[in-house]
Amino acid sequence: MATTLIINIENLVNTRDESRLLSGQELAELPSLLNAYLLLEDNRIAEWGAMADLSAKKMRSTGNLVDATGQWVMPCWCDSHTHLVFAGSRENEFVDKLQGLSYGEINAKGGGILSTVAQVRESSEEKLFNLAWQRLESISRLGTGAVEIKSGYGLTVESEIKMLRVIRKLKSRSKLSIRSTFLGAHTYPALFKDDHAGYVRQIIEEMLPVIAKEGLADYIDVFCEKGFFNPEETEAIVRAGLRYGLKPKLHVNQLNSIGGVETGLRLNALSLDHLETLTDVDLRKLSDASIKKEWAGVCTLLPTAAFFLRMPFQPARQLIDRGCAVALASDYNPGSSPSGNMNFVVALSCIQMKMLPAEAINAATINGAYAMGLEKELGSITKGKKANLIFTNPMPSLAYFPYSFGTNLIARVMIDGEFV
Ligand code: NIG
Ligand code: FE
Repeated sequence: MATTLIINIENLVNTRDESRLLSGQELAELPSLLNAYLLLEDNRIAEWGAMADLSAKKMRSTGNLVDATGQWVMPCWCDSHTHLVFAGSRENEFVDKLQGLSYGEINAKGGGILSTVAQVRESSEEKLFNLAWQRLESISRLGTGAVEIKSGYGLTVESEIKMLRVIRKLKSRSKLSIRSTFLGAHTYPALFKDDHAGYVRQIIEEMLPVIAKEGLADYIDVFCEKGFFNPEETEAIVRAGLRYGLKPKLHVNQLNSIGGVETGLRLNALSLDHLETLTDVDLRKLSDASIKKEWAGVCTLLPTAAFFLRMPFQPARQLIDRGCAVALASDYNPGSSPSGNMNFVVALSCIQMKMLPAEAINAATINGAYAMGLEKELGSITKGKKANLIFTNPMPSLAYFPYSFGTNLIARVMIDGEFV
């Protein structure tokens, strides 16, 4: 058995005997241990404790010794919502937007999601894989150890499957833990512009059976939004996915409140993502369902998407204060969040959404893990979990992390027991 002993950890963060979804006030509790050691066995967390309790015998008998003097050690970020398989970039639209065009107007011009769709359709599986691989490498250096990746830039049977095969290959080659989500219902492809029912039928009758047969997706997603998929279409697609065992993680209430929250709660979504635009009624529904434990799902907030699109930020404070479980994710995609930097997501959630540093760290680790079904594997310092760890530069306190936004405080990252 390979063992690694990490000693002299300044502060070991998010130490938990058992790990579960954190909601409401629980999010502000971040258990940690000063001057600690952490023992890994076969790349998994075996034990931790105070340096004062570490015997000389254990120190001698351990294979690999890592000195973390001055460093904080935290679980890696669990980024539960990304679209990081794509080709091309959309900085041209970015400049259009600077000159006054809205997200809606850009979509109407044939830009937006559909311009990435065109590039993805033209790209080979190998090219898409190589591009996504570079993005994975780059986010892992930024501390991400688990990531959910969606399809949704293919929008034909063939190219949705191509994207999902790319994700499958990333899963098998990468040390990061990866979950894949089928997002055939991202937007209507040009061919079905005036035949929405036809495209919904294609998703249900042609895409889903193949995807399920090949085991290409863990979850199903729909962009439930005005001008995209309405609640009825969303429900039909999700119910079809559920028949194949695919639980929903849904894009709702990004731009409008059209019943996405209600639909997502009724369908018992694992996560409801975005939530920039919540009415009082939506907030009450999320709060009631969470408090009464009728819903054990997560509100996944994507502050960098709101930031990049200059939209009002998600009401994190209200959601947490009213008992909801909140996760943070990057939404990494070429249109609304061309960055997968979870450090910035964490900082922004504090700066703009008034989340407390401890709440932000929990939301980006343990709750993010839960939002992709990886809570038994990742997201906290818990016995048996994978050793995906962030080693920080010296910091005077936890609050220093979001406070010094834009400063790289990550000294090194361990994925699956090895430094990247
Ligand atoms: O989550 N809103 C829908 N999908 C993405 C944007 C995708 C794109 O613009 O390419 C999002 O923000
Ligand atoms: Fe998204």
